[in-house]
Amino acid sequence: MALVNTKKMFDEAMRGGFAIGAFNVNNMELLQGILWACKEKQAPVILQISKGARKYANMRYLRALIDAGCAEMPEIPVAIHLDHGDYDTSMRCIDEGFTSVMYDGSHEPFEKNIEITRKISDYAHAHKPYVSVEAELGKLGGIEEDVVGVSHDDVEKFLTDPKQVKEFVTRTGCDSLAVAIGTSHGAYKFKHAPKLAFDRIAEIAKLVPGFPLVMHGSSSVPPEFIEYINTYAVLESHNKKMLETAAREGWAQMPNTMGVPEEAITRASKMAVCKVNIDTDLRLAMTASILKVWGSCNAELMKWIEGGRKGSQPKFNFDPREYLGPAREAIKVMVARKLDVLGVSGKASLFK
Ligand code: G3H
Ligand code: 13P
Ligand code: ZN
Repeated sequence: MALVNTKKMFDEAMRGGFAIGAFNVNNMELLQGILWACKEKQAPVILQISKGARKYANMRYLRALIDAGCAEMPEIPVAIHLDHGDYDTSMRCIDEGFTSVMYDGSHEPFEKNIEITRKISDYAHAHKPYVSVEAELGKLGGIEEDVVGVSHDDVEKFLTDPKQVKEFVTRTGCDSLAVAIGTSHGAYKFKHAPKLAFDRIAEIAKLVPGFPLVMHGSSSVPPEFIEYINTYAVLESHNKKMLETAAREGWAQMPNTMGVPEEAITRASKMAVCKVNIDTDLRLAMTASILKVWGSCNAELMKWIEGGRKGSQPKFNFDPREYLGPAREAIKVMVARKLDVLGVSGKASLFK
Protein backbone atom coordinates (compact mmCIF):
# COMPACT_ATOMS: atom_id res chain seq x y z
CA MET A 1 0.00 0.00 0.00
CA ALA A 2 1.22 3.47 -0.80
CA LEU A 3 1.64 5.93 2.03
CA VAL A 4 -1.74 7.14 3.29
CA ASN A 5 -3.03 10.20 5.10
CA THR A 6 -4.78 9.71 8.43
CA LYS A 7 -8.40 10.21 7.27
CA LYS A 8 -9.40 6.58 6.83
CA MET A 9 -7.21 5.54 9.76
CA PHE A 10 -9.20 7.80 12.08
CA ASP A 11 -12.58 6.89 10.55
CA GLU A 12 -11.88 3.23 11.20
CA ALA A 13 -10.40 3.91 14.65
CA MET A 14 -13.46 5.94 15.68
CA ARG A 15 -15.86 3.31 14.34
CA GLY A 16 -13.93 0.37 15.80
CA GLY A 17 -13.06 1.82 19.22
CA PHE A 18 -9.30 1.56 18.81
CA ALA A 19 -6.44 4.05 18.25
CA ILE A 20 -3.56 4.27 15.81
CA GLY A 21 -0.09 4.22 17.36
CA ALA A 22 2.10 7.17 16.40
CA PHE A 23 5.75 6.33 17.02
CA ASN A 24 8.73 8.66 16.59
CA VAL A 25 11.44 7.73 14.10
CA ASN A 26 15.01 9.03 14.20
CA ASN A 27 17.06 6.23 12.65
CA MET A 28 16.97 2.87 10.90
CA GLU A 29 16.77 0.68 14.00
CA LEU A 30 13.75 2.58 15.36
CA LEU A 31 12.02 2.44 11.99
CA GLN A 32 12.64 -1.27 11.48
CA GLY A 33 11.61 -2.13 15.04
CA ILE A 34 8.34 -0.21 14.59
CA LEU A 35 7.51 -1.51 11.11
CA TRP A 36 8.42 -5.12 11.88
CA ALA A 37 6.10 -5.03 14.90
CA CYS A 38 3.33 -3.60 12.68
CA LYS A 39 3.88 -6.35 10.15
CA GLU A 40 3.75 -9.03 12.84
CA LYS A 41 0.58 -7.52 14.31
CA GLN A 42 -0.91 -6.45 10.95
CA ALA A 43 -1.50 -2.93 12.26
CA PRO A 44 -1.65 0.41 10.43
CA VAL A 45 0.81 2.93 11.81
CA ILE A 46 1.76 6.60 11.92
CA LEU A 47 5.50 7.28 11.71
CA GLN A 48 6.22 10.59 13.39
CA ILE A 49 9.16 12.78 12.52
CA SER A 50 10.00 15.77 14.69
CA LYS A 51 12.04 18.81 13.69
CA GLY A 52 14.82 17.30 15.80
CA ALA A 53 14.64 14.03 13.86
CA ARG A 54 14.82 15.92 10.56
CA LYS A 55 17.90 17.73 11.77
CA TYR A 56 19.54 14.61 13.18
CA ALA A 57 18.97 12.17 10.33
CA ASN A 58 18.29 14.39 7.30
CA MET A 59 14.87 13.83 5.75
CA ARG A 60 16.30 12.31 2.58
CA TYR A 61 17.70 9.40 4.54
CA LEU A 62 14.57 8.94 6.64
CA ARG A 63 12.34 9.05 3.57
CA ALA A 64 14.45 6.47 1.74
CA LEU A 65 14.30 4.18 4.77
CA ILE A 66 10.52 4.60 5.07
CA ASP A 67 10.05 3.86 1.36
CA ALA A 68 12.14 0.70 1.77
CA GLY A 69 10.00 -0.34 4.75
CA CYS A 70 6.75 0.26 2.86
CA ALA A 71 8.02 -1.78 -0.09
CA GLU A 72 8.85 -4.61 2.29
CA MET A 73 5.33 -4.69 3.80
CA PRO A 74 2.86 -3.35 1.23
CA GLU A 75 -0.14 -4.59 3.21
CA ILE A 76 0.57 -2.17 6.10
CA PRO A 77 -0.98 1.35 5.83
CA VAL A 78 1.67 3.88 6.83
CA ALA A 79 1.34 7.64 7.36
CA ILE A 80 4.38 9.95 7.52
CA HIS A 81 3.55 12.66 10.01
CA LEU A 82 5.34 15.80 11.19
CA ASP A 83 5.36 15.86 15.00
CA HIS A 84 5.05 19.29 16.71
CA GLY A 85 5.71 21.36 13.62
CA ASP A 86 5.96 25.11 13.33
CA TYR A 87 4.48 27.00 10.35
CA ASP A 88 7.52 26.82 8.05
CA THR A 89 8.29 23.18 8.75
CA SER A 90 4.64 22.21 8.28
CA MET A 91 4.53 23.87 4.86
CA ARG A 92 7.85 22.32 3.84
CA CYS A 93 6.73 18.85 4.91
CA ILE A 94 3.51 19.17 2.86
CA ASP A 95 5.66 19.99 -0.19
CA GLU A 96 8.03 17.11 0.60
CA GLY A 97 5.32 14.45 0.53
CA PHE A 98 4.43 13.98 4.19
CA THR A 99 0.90 12.59 4.35
CA SER A 100 0.07 14.33 7.63
CA VAL A 101 1.43 17.29 9.58
CA MET A 102 0.93 18.62 13.08
CA TYR A 103 1.05 22.34 13.58
CA ASP A 104 1.61 22.92 17.30
CA GLY A 105 0.19 26.33 18.09
CA SER A 106 -0.44 25.52 21.74
CA HIS A 107 1.93 28.31 22.81
CA GLU A 108 0.03 30.90 20.75
CA PRO A 109 -3.04 32.86 21.84
CA PHE A 110 -6.32 31.28 20.70
CA GLU A 111 -6.87 33.59 17.69
CA LYS A 112 -3.28 33.30 16.46
CA ASN A 113 -3.38 29.50 16.82
CA ILE A 114 -6.55 29.47 14.70
CA GLU A 115 -5.10 31.80 12.07
CA ILE A 116 -1.91 29.78 11.50
CA THR A 117 -3.60 26.38 11.69
CA ARG A 118 -6.19 27.56 9.11
CA LYS A 119 -3.45 28.60 6.67
CA ILE A 120 -1.78 25.23 6.98
CA SER A 121 -5.10 23.34 6.64
CA ASP A 122 -5.96 25.25 3.46
CA TYR A 123 -2.57 24.49 1.95
CA ALA A 124 -2.52 20.84 3.07
CA HIS A 125 -6.06 20.09 1.92
CA ALA A 126 -5.54 21.66 -1.50
CA HIS A 127 -2.44 19.53 -1.96
CA LYS A 128 -2.80 16.52 -4.23
CA PRO A 129 -2.92 14.05 -2.59
CA TYR A 130 -4.72 15.43 0.46
CA VAL A 131 -2.51 15.95 3.52
CA SER A 132 -4.09 15.65 6.98
CA VAL A 133 -3.58 18.33 9.62
CA GLU A 134 -3.39 17.83 13.39
CA ALA A 135 -3.75 20.91 15.58
CA GLU A 136 -3.32 21.42 19.32
CA LEU A 137 -5.45 23.24 21.84
CA GLY A 138 -4.42 23.45 25.49
CA LYS A 139 -0.98 22.76 26.93
CA LEU A 140 0.40 19.41 27.99
CA GLY A 141 1.15 19.21 31.67
CA GLY A 142 0.51 16.93 34.61
CA ILE A 143 -2.27 16.42 37.06
CA GLU A 144 -0.99 15.17 40.35
CA GLU A 145 -2.85 15.32 43.58
CA ASP A 146 0.17 16.56 45.47
CA VAL A 147 2.21 18.61 43.04
CA VAL A 148 3.76 21.35 45.12
CA GLY A 149 3.25 24.83 43.75
CA VAL A 150 0.67 23.94 41.13
CA SER A 151 -2.76 24.90 42.27
CA HIS A 152 -5.83 23.10 41.00
CA ASP A 153 -6.75 26.26 39.11
CA ASP A 154 -3.40 26.36 37.32
CA VAL A 155 -3.69 22.75 36.20
CA GLU A 156 -7.20 23.33 34.91
CA LYS A 157 -6.02 26.39 33.02
CA PHE A 158 -3.67 24.38 30.85
CA LEU A 159 -6.03 21.54 30.00
CA THR A 160 -8.06 21.80 26.81
CA ASP A 161 -11.18 23.85 27.43
CA PRO A 162 -14.05 21.85 25.89
CA LYS A 163 -15.98 25.08 25.33
CA GLN A 164 -13.35 26.26 22.80
CA VAL A 165 -13.13 23.04 20.80
CA LYS A 166 -16.06 23.34 18.42
CA GLU A 167 -15.13 26.87 17.37
CA PHE A 168 -11.46 25.88 17.04
CA VAL A 169 -12.01 22.84 14.82
CA THR A 170 -14.62 24.60 12.69
CA ARG A 171 -12.52 27.70 12.09
CA THR A 172 -9.20 25.87 11.56
CA GLY A 173 -10.56 23.06 9.37
CA CYS A 174 -8.08 20.69 11.08
CA ASP A 175 -8.57 16.92 10.72
CA SER A 176 -7.69 15.96 14.29
CA LEU A 177 -7.02 17.72 17.57
CA ALA A 178 -4.34 17.09 20.19
CA VAL A 179 -5.92 17.69 23.57
CA ALA A 180 -4.28 18.33 26.93
CA ILE A 181 -5.83 15.95 29.45
CA GLY A 182 -3.05 15.76 32.03
CA THR A 183 -0.24 13.95 30.21
CA SER A 184 3.20 15.40 29.53
CA HIS A 185 6.18 14.56 27.34
CA GLY A 186 9.24 12.65 28.50
CA ALA A 187 10.13 10.10 31.17
CA TYR A 188 9.26 12.16 34.25
CA LYS A 189 5.49 12.43 34.09
CA PHE A 190 4.13 11.37 37.46
CA LYS A 191 5.29 10.14 40.84
CA HIS A 192 2.00 8.37 41.59
CA ALA A 193 -0.75 6.84 39.49
CA PRO A 194 -2.09 9.80 37.52
CA LYS A 195 -5.61 11.13 37.25
CA LEU A 196 -6.21 11.88 33.60
CA ALA A 197 -9.11 14.09 32.55
CA PHE A 198 -11.28 11.43 30.88
CA ASP A 199 -14.29 13.60 31.66
CA ARG A 200 -12.89 16.18 29.22
CA ILE A 201 -12.51 13.61 26.46
CA ALA A 202 -16.13 12.60 26.99
CA GLU A 203 -17.29 16.21 27.08
CA ILE A 204 -15.37 17.13 23.92
CA ALA A 205 -16.69 14.04 22.14
CA LYS A 206 -20.24 15.20 22.91
CA LEU A 207 -19.56 18.69 21.56
CA VAL A 208 -17.83 17.53 18.34
CA PRO A 209 -19.23 14.03 17.75
CA GLY A 210 -17.01 11.77 15.66
CA PHE A 211 -14.08 14.22 15.64
CA PRO A 212 -10.72 12.44 16.15
CA LEU A 213 -8.70 13.42 19.21
CA VAL A 214 -4.98 12.86 19.77
CA MET A 215 -3.25 11.98 23.02
CA HIS A 216 0.35 13.15 23.30
CA GLY A 217 2.76 12.21 26.07
CA SER A 218 1.42 8.66 26.21
CA SER A 219 4.50 6.65 27.14
CA SER A 220 4.04 4.32 30.08
CA VAL A 221 7.67 4.51 31.29
CA PRO A 222 7.78 0.78 32.14
CA PRO A 223 9.52 0.20 35.49
CA GLU A 224 11.58 -2.70 34.14
CA PHE A 225 13.34 -0.35 31.71
CA ILE A 226 14.03 2.21 34.41
CA GLU A 227 15.39 -0.69 36.47
CA TYR A 228 17.67 -1.80 33.61
CA ILE A 229 18.98 1.72 33.16
CA ASN A 230 19.57 2.13 36.89
CA THR A 231 21.23 -1.27 37.12
CA TYR A 232 23.44 -1.16 34.09
CA ALA A 233 24.22 2.54 34.03
CA VAL A 234 25.20 2.75 37.70
CA LEU A 235 25.59 -0.58 39.44
CA GLU A 236 27.54 -2.15 36.60
CA SER A 237 29.66 0.92 36.24
CA HIS A 238 33.35 0.36 36.73
CA ASN A 239 33.85 3.98 37.49
CA LYS A 240 34.74 3.69 41.16
CA LYS A 241 33.93 7.27 42.05
CA MET A 242 30.49 7.04 40.48
CA LEU A 243 29.75 3.76 42.27
CA GLU A 244 30.79 5.22 45.60
CA THR A 245 28.69 8.32 45.08
CA ALA A 246 25.68 6.28 44.01
CA ALA A 247 25.98 4.03 47.08
CA ARG A 248 26.52 6.96 49.48
CA GLU A 249 23.64 9.02 48.14
CA GLY A 250 21.28 6.15 47.30
CA TRP A 251 21.46 7.55 43.84
CA ALA A 252 20.14 6.16 40.54
CA GLN A 253 20.43 7.41 36.98
CA MET A 254 16.66 7.63 36.71
CA PRO A 255 14.77 8.28 39.95
CA ASN A 256 11.32 6.88 40.59
CA THR A 257 8.92 7.91 37.90
CA MET A 258 5.71 6.76 36.27
CA GLY A 259 4.08 7.21 32.91
CA VAL A 260 0.57 6.80 31.60
CA PRO A 261 -0.78 3.39 32.69
CA GLU A 262 -1.62 1.09 29.78
CA GLU A 263 -5.22 0.69 31.02
CA ALA A 264 -5.64 4.46 30.61
CA ILE A 265 -4.42 4.23 27.02
CA THR A 266 -6.83 1.41 26.24
CA ARG A 267 -9.65 3.39 27.87
CA ALA A 268 -8.87 6.53 25.83
CA SER A 269 -8.58 4.45 22.63
CA LYS A 270 -12.14 3.23 23.12
CA MET A 271 -13.29 6.84 23.44
CA ALA A 272 -12.70 9.59 20.84
CA VAL A 273 -8.89 9.30 21.00
CA CYS A 274 -7.85 7.97 17.58
CA LYS A 275 -4.08 8.64 17.71
CA VAL A 276 -1.73 7.96 20.61
CA ASN A 277 1.82 9.39 20.57
CA ILE A 278 4.66 7.31 21.98
CA ASP A 279 8.34 8.21 21.83
CA THR A 280 9.90 8.01 25.31
CA ASP A 281 9.12 4.29 25.74
CA LEU A 282 11.02 3.55 22.53
CA ARG A 283 13.97 5.61 23.73
CA LEU A 284 13.93 3.74 27.04
CA ALA A 285 13.71 0.34 25.35
CA MET A 286 16.59 1.17 23.03
CA THR A 287 18.86 2.64 25.70
CA ALA A 288 18.11 -0.06 28.28
CA SER A 289 18.86 -2.75 25.75
CA ILE A 290 22.20 -1.22 24.76
CA LEU A 291 23.23 -0.74 28.39
CA LYS A 292 22.28 -4.35 29.07
CA VAL A 293 24.64 -5.60 26.35
CA TRP A 294 27.46 -3.43 27.62
CA GLY A 295 26.67 -4.27 31.25
CA SER A 296 26.88 -7.98 30.40
CA CYS A 297 30.31 -7.43 28.81
CA ASN A 298 31.50 -5.80 32.01
CA ALA A 299 29.99 -8.58 34.11
CA GLU A 300 31.82 -11.21 32.02
CA LEU A 301 35.06 -9.33 32.49
CA MET A 302 34.49 -9.11 36.25
CA LYS A 303 33.76 -12.85 36.39
CA TRP A 304 37.00 -13.51 34.53
CA ILE A 305 39.00 -11.30 36.94
CA GLU A 306 37.39 -12.85 40.02
CA GLY A 307 37.87 -16.35 38.60
CA GLY A 308 41.63 -15.88 38.52
CA ARG A 309 41.91 -14.65 34.90
CA LYS A 310 41.73 -18.14 33.44
CA GLY A 311 41.36 -18.49 29.66
CA SER A 312 41.22 -15.56 27.29
CA GLN A 313 40.05 -12.18 28.50
CA PRO A 314 36.39 -11.49 27.51
CA LYS A 315 36.28 -8.78 24.88
CA PHE A 316 34.19 -5.64 25.16
CA ASN A 317 31.58 -5.69 22.41
CA PHE A 318 32.15 -2.68 20.24
CA ASP A 319 30.45 -3.98 17.08
CA PRO A 320 27.40 -1.68 16.77
CA ARG A 321 25.38 -4.54 15.27
CA GLU A 322 25.82 -6.50 18.49
CA TYR A 323 24.10 -3.82 20.56
CA LEU A 324 21.86 -2.11 17.99
CA GLY A 325 20.43 -5.48 16.87
CA PRO A 326 19.06 -6.31 20.36
CA ALA A 327 17.96 -2.66 20.70
CA ARG A 328 15.93 -2.96 17.48
CA GLU A 329 14.38 -6.20 18.80
CA ALA A 330 13.51 -4.44 22.09
CA ILE A 331 11.75 -1.69 20.11
CA LYS A 332 9.85 -4.30 18.12
CA VAL A 333 8.69 -6.06 21.30
CA MET A 334 7.69 -2.73 22.87
CA VAL A 335 5.72 -1.58 19.81
CA ALA A 336 4.00 -4.96 19.40
CA ARG A 337 2.80 -4.68 23.00
CA LYS A 338 1.56 -1.10 22.44
CA LEU A 339 -0.39 -2.18 19.34
CA ASP A 340 -2.31 -4.66 21.48
CA VAL A 341 -2.90 -2.00 24.17
CA LEU A 342 -4.30 0.35 21.49
CA GLY A 343 -6.55 -2.40 20.11
CA VAL A 344 -5.12 -1.81 16.60
CA SER A 345 -3.58 -5.25 16.05
CA GLY A 346 -5.14 -6.99 13.05
CA LYS A 347 -6.73 -3.78 11.72
CA ALA A 348 -4.57 -3.49 8.56
CA SER A 349 -7.13 -5.73 6.86
CA LEU A 350 -9.69 -2.89 7.05
CA PHE A 351 -7.64 -1.00 4.45
CA LYS A 352 -7.64 -3.63 1.69
O1 G3H B 1 7.07 15.30 21.62
C1 G3H B 1 8.23 15.24 21.27
C2 G3H B 1 8.77 13.97 20.73
O2 G3H B 1 9.10 13.11 21.80
C3 G3H B 1 9.93 14.24 19.83
O3 G3H B 1 11.05 14.66 20.56
O4 G3H B 1 11.78 16.77 19.44
O5 G3H B 1 13.36 15.40 20.84
O6 G3H B 1 12.61 14.58 18.60
P1 G3H B 1 12.28 15.41 19.81
P1 13P C 1 6.10 10.59 25.22
O1 13P C 1 7.23 11.47 25.63
O2 13P C 1 5.20 10.28 26.38
O3 13P C 1 6.53 9.35 24.54
O4 13P C 1 5.20 11.42 24.18
C1 13P C 1 5.61 11.54 22.84
C2 13P C 1 4.82 12.55 22.10
O5 13P C 1 3.79 13.04 22.51
C3 13P C 1 5.33 12.95 20.78
O6 13P C 1 4.56 13.93 20.18
ZN1 ZN D 1 3.81 15.36 21.57
